[in-house]
Amino acid sequence: MTAVVDKRSELDQALASARRNRRTVGLVPTMGSLHEGHLALLRAARERCATVVMSLFVNPAQFGPGEDLESYPRDLERDLRLAEAEGVDVVYAPATEDVYPPGFSTTVEVSGLTDVLDGDPSRRGAGHFRGVTTIVAKLFNTVRPEIAFFGQKDAQQALVVRRMARDLDFGLEIVVVPTVREDDGLAMSSRNAYLSAEERKRAAAIFRSLGAVEDAVRSGETHTGPALEAGRRALAAAGIEPEYLEARDADSLEPVATFNGRPGKSVLVAVAARVGRARLIDNVVIPGNG
Ligand code: PAJ
Repeated sequence: MTAVVDKRSELDQALASARRNRRTVGLVPTMGSLHEGHLALLRAARERCATVVMSLFVNPAQFGPGEDLESYPRDLERDLRLAEAEGVDVVYAPATEDVYPPGFSTTVEVSGLTDVLDGDPSRRGAGHFRGVTTIVAKLFNTVRPEIAFFGQKDAQQALVVRRMARDLDFGLEIVVVPTVREDDGLAMSSRNAYLSAEERKRAAAIFRSLGAVEDAVRSGETHTGPALEAGRRALAAAGIEPEYLEARDADSLEPVATFNGRPGKSVLVAVAARVGRARLIDNVVIPGNG
């Protein structure tokens, strides 16, 4: 049986015996509207942890003005059914006013990593990640998990959360789970629900563009510029103009000019593009040699 709680006191009660018996508590933070990507995180948590907590909270603080906070897909009943089927022990779905009571005035911000890609001021901006790290810090403090699970689909988010956990001594392990994809490669996302049938077909070019970059590297291209050009052509062929398609150091997010610049350093190739009214992101990691 999955316990569904919305108050911190109920959460503490639901976790009391797990904490008393020092059973490993795993946390999977989500905004609901669950798909196979979320389920992969729940399964990874189920495998590693005696007690699995899934949080479900559409966090207003990480949506910018004009973003899709109001229209973000919500289906609590379906989410609870899916969580139950995955053997989740506790679903924590707090109300906005309990998470952000009147007078709430503290934020957590990771600098540097949040200035680029999605954090670039011309895109979602660092404020997006401030919203993410603030809610994730609160969830870490309320749930107090030993392990927390995040998806590689949001590679920058995973890096930022890992840095926050390290810098602020949360003392927990962050596990990053590989991206789950549709048959044509499109990364699963709650926002795919916004796509019309025609847009859904075109959206597959986002993953194809990452494949084109990988192909270029496999055929011997060592410079990121020409490889990214191949990716841009794949997007253009589907009428998609990316917000960004960039190659960056997979740990520091510093820009990189070559794929083999530093032995052992992996390169994150990340893309964001709007298709219809959906803003979609995806990435692949090209391992360094040596
Ligand atoms: P949400 O978009 O619901 O995603 C919850 C988790 O599922 C994130 O860690 C995300 O990276 C992961 N995920 C999404 N799609 C995936 C896919 N196709 N394959 C693998 N993992 C995938 O990310 C958030 O919510 C929020 O920012 C949150 C961390 C909950 C903070 O509010």
